[in-house]
Amino acid sequence: MGSYGETRAGIWRYHAAMTETRDSFAALDHADPLQRFRAEFDLPPGVIYLDGNSLGALPHRTRERLRAVVDREWGEGLIRSWGDADWIGMPQRTGDKIARLIGAHPGEVVVTDSTSVDLFKALSLALQVDPARRLVVSDRNNFPTDLYVAESLIAHLGARHELALVDSGEAALEAFLASRGSEVAVVMNTHVNFTTARMYDMARATAAIHRVGAVALWDLSHSAGALPLDLAACDVDFAVGCGYKYLNGGPGAPAYLYVAKRFHHLRQPIAGWMGHASPFDFSGQYRAATGISRYLSGTPPVISMAALESSVDLMLEAPMAEMRRKSIALCDAFIALVEAKCPRLEVITPREGAVRGSHVSLRHPRSQDVMNALIARGVIGDCRPPDLLRFGFAPLYVRYIDVWDAVEALVQVV
Ligand SMILES: Cc1ncc(COP(=O)(O)O)c(C=O)c1O
Repeated sequence: MGSYGETRAGIWRYHAAMTETRDSFAALDHADPLQRFRAEFDLPPGVIYLDGNSLGALPHRTRERLRAVVDREWGEGLIRSWGDADWIGMPQRTGDKIARLIGAHPGEVVVTDSTSVDLFKALSLALQVDPARRLVVSDRNNFPTDLYVAESLIAHLGARHELALVDSGEAALEAFLASRGSEVAVVMNTHVNFTTARMYDMARATAAIHRVGAVALWDLSHSAGALPLDLAACDVDFAVGCGYKYLNGGPGAPAYLYVAKRFHHLRQPIAGWMGHASPFDFSGQYRAATGISRYLSGTPPVISMAALESSVDLMLEAPMAEMRRKSIALCDAFIALVEAKCPRLEVITPREGAVRGSHVSLRHPRSQDVMNALIARGVIGDCRPPDLLRFGFAPLYVRYIDVWDAVEALVQVV
């Protein structure tokens, strides 16, 4: 028997799941205030797409926007489009749009590079804040690229710093800060963990980091576009995030970098011409631009940035509170059905919606075989080694009946 029998809430969920029907899930779709958004996406018939946490789906308007960028702006406008179509302003313009999704102020976010490169930039800014502090602290279960980047920056800076790994969760972080807080330069964590989907309390953790005089760097890759964020209210110092997951920016979409205004004097490590105050003066002398633009390095990838901008425009039309409510409901329903119908699968994601992102991970010793069989049935999720199955519930286009049908497929496969 799975863990559903262990608590009253669990027992309730188990009975509720066993009395649900596909029709009752279809009724939830019918009443869904976000219903219209699904029609905005290209979703192949016969596919239940539960991998928007890895690569978001393609909005129709983004295909149209790409067509216009390629045919008109590039094909006809040629180099004139840097000005006529304001290609040159895209990193800041798209950054300001993402700022609205993550609760940042205008002028604090810029779209550039990949998340890994932006992490390198943000971390190198964070280490300038108090050069006497040696420790870079991170959750030991952070996404690998975050840890690789920290190690490589530390090596690059001559190994004067050290990466300290702590267990997941606010309590472990606070205990570490209580004992070694005065040595900590920066705490760098991913807000929603890429495997468990456990979500940090950003306000609580950031406040604890600030109390010891350190700065907070959050990776929002699994949060932005799936749940409400308020970097300003949480007084976050630095943040980065992916464009190709819930933001639906397309494969390899550029990432974004947030730097709170109070740090806009800091020097970035890859000073290139696009971060120059006047790039088109072609001056031999580097002079950093003011504001967030100084964190640009090279020429923006216009085509992929146009895709991201268009997809973010779509997302800005959706009420974020409704998206969060639906995302929690989809994940709750999935967990309840899995626990009731596939008790051999262990749910490793928190049951409590308030501390969870928008994906659910299940443990099975033959996870890759299970996922292959699901994909053969049209249910697309992904695997994380050694034994996890991961299912993302992007609230703009996943339906309640998709949850129902995915679990039915899972029952057959398992
Ligand atoms: C939390 C997190 N950070 C960073 C990355 C990698 O980002 P990029 O490929 O843009 O460097 C990922 C990719 O899945 C991720 O999940």
